Amino acid sequence: MRIAGRAERIEPFYVMEVAKAAERLARESAASDRPMVFLNIGEPDFTAPPAVQAAAERAIRDGRTQYTAACGLPALRERIAAWYGERFGVQVPARRIVVTAGASAALQLACLALVDPGDEILMPDPSYPCNRQFVSAAEGRAVLLPTDAAGRFQLTAGQVEAAWGPRTRGVLLASPSNPTGTSIHPAELARIHAFVRARGGITLLDEIYLGLSYDETFGHTGLALGEDLISVNSFSKYFSMTGWRLGWLVVPEALVPVVERLAQNLFICPSTVAQHAALACFEPDSIAEYERRRGEFKARRDFFIPQLEQLGLPVPVVPDGAFYAWADCSAWAQRWGLPGSWEFAFELMKRAHVAVTPGRDFGQHATQRFVRFSTASSLAHLQEAVARMKALHEDAA
Ligand SMILES: Cc1ncc(COP(=O)(O)O)c(C=O)c1O
Repeated sequence: MRIAGRAERIEPFYVMEVAKAAERLARESAASDRPMVFLNIGEPDFTAPPAVQAAAERAIRDGRTQYTAACGLPALRERIAAWYGERFGVQVPARRIVVTAGASAALQLACLALVDPGDEILMPDPSYPCNRQFVSAAEGRAVLLPTDAAGRFQLTAGQVEAAWGPRTRGVLLASPSNPTGTSIHPAELARIHAFVRARGGITLLDEIYLGLSYDETFGHTGLALGEDLISVNSFSKYFSMTGWRLGWLVVPEALVPVVERLAQNLFICPSTVAQHAALACFEPDSIAEYERRRGEFKARRDFFIPQLEQLGLPVPVVPDGAFYAWADCSAWAQRWGLPGSWEFAFELMKRAHVAVTPGRDFGQHATQRFVRFSTASSLAHLQEAVARMKALHEDAA
């Protein structure tokens, strides 16, 4: 069968190989005294709070399960708009909010609406692997620009300016980032946005982890910079609803009918049950629970990062959000006689029954030195992982 070039260009998600191996080993070690500790998973270990579950049940019981408008339930768009005001002090009209099947659909819609064949989108290396594929599926080209600790693993305005060429259409950033959990400095984002705007380009900002922000300097939405900044968000992370498949896109008013037309044709609408449930995310009890969880994620970070440092797995920039630690494993890899982080991840899994994600998927720049630990696991699991790694570390000393 002849496969379309578009599909052939989509790169494999290597992380899944690691996840499959971890699952296999987990089955073998389940009954042992060292069951697998999964620190490779990028989703909260919490589920939707009671009011959200109850709202979903009510919607199903009451038969409120028909298609909704392609841009989402008007009440949900209003509620999200109000959240921007309450939480971030930014006024975003509900008509600019398009509810989608997760941030994934939001990113696809944005790319399909804005990227023409051959257009280039600049993005940081390392960054969320699927972003490259969304651009590629729109027949554009993702251009990865190397980042470093000094720039918080985010792009700088200087880099964007230097890399901007005749085919460049815009930038795609995530703040806080996956895999590093680090945010772009607001002043740097403002400079990038001003430059991109002057070139008539697009600034696409993935703010899926913004709700899980632990530092006042960074916990602000880029939407304050102007109507032309496009923001992606989701109910997956802060709202603990990964499998419900619900997110949203904030676009300039002129783009709403374009995105609506695409959404009508490609998806009809996001999940109706999930939308009814999501309305309950904004009730005071739910928000209180989400804030408690945010505190817990921060406490895990505060425990785990110093432990990694002590174990010789330095984290060059302390994450200010999300639930990841981007740790340099090159000293361990060298000690174990391994070429890089890919082999280290498998070896750690075998020796300690601790699963982590190697850097490979996230880009090419120094990713063979880094692994991503996810701290979306209980403190007890994190403590267990540290104890096992400590034992290996001491054995080697
Ligand atoms: C940076 C980033 N953007 C987008 C997504 C996709 O999320 P969703 O579940 O909302 O589709 C993820 C998922 O891990 C992510 O890390």
